[in-house]
Amino acid sequence: MTAFPRQRPRRLRSTPALRRLVAQTSLEPRHLVLPMFVADGIDEPRPIASMPGVYQHTRDSLRAAAAQAVSAGVGGLMLFGVPAQADKDSTGSVGADPDGVLNVALRDLSADLGDATVLMADTCLDEFTDHGHCGVLDDRGRVDNDATLSCYVELALAQADSGAHVVSPSGMMDGQVAAIRDGLDAAGHSDVVILAYAAKFASAFYGPFRDAVASTLSGDRRTYQQDPGNAREALHEVELDLAEGADIVMVKPAMGYLDVIAATAAVSSVPVAAYQVSGEYAMIAAAAANGWIDARAAALESLVGIRRAGADIVLSYWAAEAADWLA
Ligand code: PBG
Repeated sequence: MTAFPRQRPRRLRSTPALRRLVAQTSLEPRHLVLPMFVADGIDEPRPIASMPGVYQHTRDSLRAAAAQAVSAGVGGLMLFGVPAQADKDSTGSVGADPDGVLNVALRDLSADLGDATVLMADTCLDEFTDHGHCGVLDDRGRVDNDATLSCYVELALAQADSGAHVVSPSGMMDGQVAAIRDGLDAAGHSDVVILAYAAKFASAFYGPFRDAVASTLSGDRRTYQQDPGNAREALHEVELDLAEGADIVMVKPAMGYLDVIAATAAVSSVPVAAYQVSGEYAMIAAAAANGWIDARAAALESLVGIRRAGADIVLSYWAAEAADWLA
């Protein structure tokens, strides 16, 4: 009898070809969606200090960067608009204005790229309101759920009219998916997909994003975004969004919520997305800039981990670079 083990998992790790043959999780460019920012009133792309390598784009630089990401093979693009401060108001009306920067940029990319990629838009008010909240406020300064829903419908219709294939309600208002579905269908946009930010947590990891969209928020979003400790509540949110007609459900952030991604994947009958948010990007980028971590290896490992947890689609600021690395 030999004293050595018979079970040797290392056997299957002994050559690159064997490791490739038995790999259990794939990460391909098509799984990745690149979030992009387009700003009104700037002449040059503006670097976002807390997100090295990420820019607020001009209309033209957005077109170029979008074309590049699409040729690298990413699965889609998620667009955020940054209006001039002077155009923000209490109801975020510039978001639904066909001449607002997000809608103009959607028309640009729709004209350039057609159906060659999946064009997604963030369907939320916080980029457009002067108070920075994701909804409109009542007379006591609280976010008014039901009054916000009609604003979201207007936003979604403007985005669909401008060529978005996918609208993405991210404000965590109750009933937002049903309201948007009804509005789109009534306007003849029954083909437009709803990617619902179903389980979105009140996270410190959104910090750099607030720089990216020049947010004016003071206070927090805890009356609408979820408590980071509440997994069962996240599944309730997912169930509601599925019942309201969500075509894709998303968990956000990703890396601290892998259990929620896995639980969502276990119950969802539709594709599951996860958003590796600005702070998650910034952590890797900052450590890499200090020489403490290898950006490429760490970014790819983080993306494969999010896929392994159960995400079909991963939104990440690494998407275009990762697509190049994977090519
Ligand atoms: C809200 C929205 C936010 C993000 C995406 N959509 C900000 C927030 O909820 O505060 C964050 C994305 C990121 O941090 O990368 N419209």
